[in-house]
Amino acid sequence: MKKDLRSQNWFGKKGKDGFIYRAWMKNQGIPDYEFRGKPVIGICNTWSELTPCNAHFKELAEAVKRGVIEAGGLPLEFPVMSLGETLIKPTAMLYRNLASMDVEESIRANPLDGVVLMCGCDKTTPSLVMGACSVDIPTIVVSGGAMLTGKFRNQDIGTSDLWRFSEDVRSGIMSEEELNMAEAGMCRSRGHCAVMGTASSMACMVEALGLSLPGNAAIPAVDANRKVLAQLSGKRIVEMVREDLKLSDLLTRYAFENAIRVNAAIGGSTNFVIHLLAIAGRIGVPLTLEDMDIFSRNIPLIANIQPSGKYFMEDFYYAGGLPAVMKQIENHLHTDCLTANGKKLSENIQKTKSWNNDVIAPVDQPVNKRSGIVVLKGNLCENGSVIKPSAASPHLMKHTGKAVVFENIEDYKARINDPLLEADENSVLVLKNAGPKGYPGMPEVGNMGLPTKLLARGITDMVRISDGRMSGTGFGTVVLHVSPEAAENGTFSLIENGDMIELDVEKRVLNLLVGEAELDRRKVNRAAFRNPFTRGYARLYVDHVEQADKGADFDFLKGGSGSDVSRDSH
Ligand code: FES
Ligand code: MG
Repeated sequence: MKKDLRSQNWFGKKGKDGFIYRAWMKNQGIPDYEFRGKPVIGICNTWSELTPCNAHFKELAEAVKRGVIEAGGLPLEFPVMSLGETLIKPTAMLYRNLASMDVEESIRANPLDGVVLMCGCDKTTPSLVMGACSVDIPTIVVSGGAMLTGKFRNQDIGTSDLWRFSEDVRSGIMSEEELNMAEAGMCRSRGHCAVMGTASSMACMVEALGLSLPGNAAIPAVDANRKVLAQLSGKRIVEMVREDLKLSDLLTRYAFENAIRVNAAIGGSTNFVIHLLAIAGRIGVPLTLEDMDIFSRNIPLIANIQPSGKYFMEDFYYAGGLPAVMKQIENHLHTDCLTANGKKLSENIQKTKSWNNDVIAPVDQPVNKRSGIVVLKGNLCENGSVIKPSAASPHLMKHTGKAVVFENIEDYKARINDPLLEADENSVLVLKNAGPKGYPGMPEVGNMGLPTKLLARGITDMVRISDGRMSGTGFGTVVLHVSPEAAENGTFSLIENGDMIELDVEKRVLNLLVGEAELDRRKVNRAAFRNPFTRGYARLYVDHVEQADKGADFDFLKGGSGSDVSRDSH
């Protein structure tokens, strides 16, 4: 048992200060004894009706509270900035770092001994974990769970189908009316995207890192077991406070290596790369972009879930969820790692197995031998770029083609439907200025739709390269996160229409086949990038955001500031 509860620096005070800290809390009907030495547990809630994936979190928080009370703690729920993928313009990623600052300061400034992070939609997981890491008090994650599988004309559908439907409408295979019907059938229940998109990948990431109870990632949002897990997590965080089990005790270098391997086995999102690097930066564990490739090599795809596979998160749960995946790749994991329930990973997965080999395949009969994240290097991306082979087309993994360059997203939208666009299936589509600084915020536009005239000919994939990101639900032979981004004046910014580009995934190479002299000539004519924002958050963001290969965090947010606050408010 930890000797002093942090919260007693507020509620345990005598005189004027103690009066102020307790008296106003009592307006909520909390009896005096609650303030006299109970662990105070913050429930950091990203509930918002503007974040539909997290719209059920008020109810879920009630289950957490039951657990906290049961274990003898005092639960206090508080809101933080909630980032929904679907509504926020220009992209929720622009605000990930802002939300993380909100979380960090809210935890540190308040009388909390432990915190439960309520995470769901894509950015709500990394922003909360990043912020909590910079404070480092006992912390547990409760994910919101995925939606039930969507239905359309007796077919299972999920977010990944959105990209297919959209191309089908553009190529005339599907009508707008049919698209509307699909829209009504896809999001059948509360919860986040029902495929292995970024939200599900993040839920798997926290479970693999040991930051949640086992089984957290896969339970559907509306399954009664989700509430059971929430209650057990509430109970457990009180024990974690008593054991003083902090994030830094769980987040070792080995835990990060486990997360990378698990992300490969599940065919997890490319966004995982950026978020994990940012989290490592906050907790102070050295981790590089190259580690994503090194540790995911030799890990096959065993979770047969869209977009890399066939099934949905609901099926994943019934098949055994993440513990069953980790059991399969046990020999590749550091199973000595400690997890939030106080047990080693080896104990957590000991009795698990796959209940459906079609959904969670045996490691020696994988869904795809290729998986994980490949990090590409070359003169086109001096600091690296990434591709997810399990979601790409095998015939394009080694490809040289002519660049069709779009200077920005407006240029792309203006020309992609043009029948005169000079492009064929061997072309390489290049989208510039979709990076952290250039857009700003690095949106999910990297899996740009193909030229309409090629869709009409039945072409379904082409090599695409950008400094942006792709939705975790997306797929295709898409090279992402080019660093330095166009706005940072890397070679990527110099590509012109007709240049030859060489991609070789096996060799991990991405090159612009243009001579040095010509590139030097182009450099002379290139205008220097200036922050276009004169005020507000966007100005701060563009001034301080780091490149994708470093996790796109702010330069001044690296590391943590601990949990001590010595001065009182009055
Ligand atoms: Fe929230 Fe996909 S939109 S998880
Ligand atoms: Mg997304």
